[in-house]
Amino acid sequence: MAKRTTTYVCQSCGGISPRWAGKCPACEGWNTLVEEADGGAMGTAHGVPKAQTKAKTLELETLSGSTEEAPRLPTGIAELDRVTGGGLVPGSALLIGGEPGIGKSTLLLQVSAALADKGRNAVYFSGEEASAQIRLRAQRLGLTQSPVKLAAETNLNNILATLGKGKTPDLVIIDSIQTLWTDGLDSSPGTVSQVRAATQSMIRYAKLSGAAVLLVGHVTKDGQIAGPKVVEHMVDTVLYFEGDRGQPYRILRTVKNRFGATDEIGVFEMGQTGLKEVANPSELFLGDRGGETPGAAVFASMEGTRPILVELQALVVPSALGTPRRAVVGWDGSRLAQLLAVLEARCGITLSHHDVYLNVAGGLRISEPAADAAAAAALVSSFSGVPLRPDSVYFGEVSLSGALRPAGHGPARLKEAGKLGFKRAVMPVGGEMETGASKIEIDRIASVRELVDRLK
Ligand code: TYD
Ligand code: MG
Repeated sequence: MAKRTTTYVCQSCGGISPRWAGKCPACEGWNTLVEEADGGAMGTAHGVPKAQTKAKTLELETLSGSTEEAPRLPTGIAELDRVTGGGLVPGSALLIGGEPGIGKSTLLLQVSAALADKGRNAVYFSGEEASAQIRLRAQRLGLTQSPVKLAAETNLNNILATLGKGKTPDLVIIDSIQTLWTDGLDSSPGTVSQVRAATQSMIRYAKLSGAAVLLVGHVTKDGQIAGPKVVEHMVDTVLYFEGDRGQPYRILRTVKNRFGATDEIGVFEMGQTGLKEVANPSELFLGDRGGETPGAAVFASMEGTRPILVELQALVVPSALGTPRRAVVGWDGSRLAQLLAVLEARCGITLSHHDVYLNVAGGLRISEPAADAAAAAALVSSFSGVPLRPDSVYFGEVSLSGALRPAGHGPARLKEAGKLGFKRAVMPVGGEMETGASKIEIDRIASVRELVDRLK
């Protein structure tokens, strides 16, 4: 028998090191190396697969061969169907990540109940809560009558054995992947090897049985699914469940999807009776708009295929600090720094003695560059103390030269703004023609300087 050795596996990137170090040599993360018995990484992770005795030759195919659309299993929860691209795909694995307490277990219980109610075979394995706790939640959600099959289990082998007997399930839920362990490995649950092995087994099960497998993944402090990135690479679809815990709104975001588009979002509201779909998120994000206060601008954003209007709020106040404070919620901090630099260089607006706060209302996180124009308008408005016209929306990307670059999906943005009663859109020159949005006055501007001049 070969001598057993131990190796140190980085819990962040999955890199393997022969001895312990404070810093992972692969990803340079601190304190991420954990001792694991060798072999836990399942052979191939060492880069040297075992020699195969007998290899078979493969039939090579062409691209023009016949294909079928992936069949879908619509859940009936429209916001979830939207982010998955039309429903769950049988035989695929989906990972849903999110911070503790955000509502993953609630959503998955609702999904399994919705499918079970339609006569599908839904099985829910919980590694975190006892069956009694899940039943309590089901009571609260009014789902006790749904024929969902439930078990509290963390042993992967027991789960696979249970799934193997009886009718093949249509949907299997594992809450969460970090609690699973297999006795074939020495390392403790939640370590890279265990998570990887459990994910691999569940994916294999999905492929062989044709069931849709939903895995819950915990998220670390810095917002990544705990365990190596490889888990995200292994599954077919990755969704993130995010939102501000102080707010009732929850956003389900597609990060990766082998069967549909990414960047889609689904919006839910957490209430007394679980998660409710929000069909018109713009109304929600603009819901508590006050009167005319300086520093608030409405951004006509696009999240995937859906236009969403959201308010950006800026506060610019004189700073008492040597290095003034910049705080951003829901937007990228370096994007703000860049915008402030452009405002200074191209418009002469110097904020180096001011604290700057920027907030995206409602707990939405924006990554679209077209938010620049709205952010600039909000910042300048707060700085000058002049409120913006409340009936206007803004969009457009500001380049380093100060020019406003065209943004895609103009017509969809304008249509949404018109629907919600806005009268004017401040937008870049160029881009698609705006058809069907004639109600709205269009104010085209070529540079951030023109934008600032408008606000004077
Ligand atoms: P949960 O689904 O347990 O979160 P996760 O699995 O992501 O850790 O959600 C728990 C939170 O949701 C908890 O703080 C209570 C709240 N909640 C409601 O507000 N209403 C409800 O109907 C339910 C079931 C939970
Ligand atoms: Mg949970």
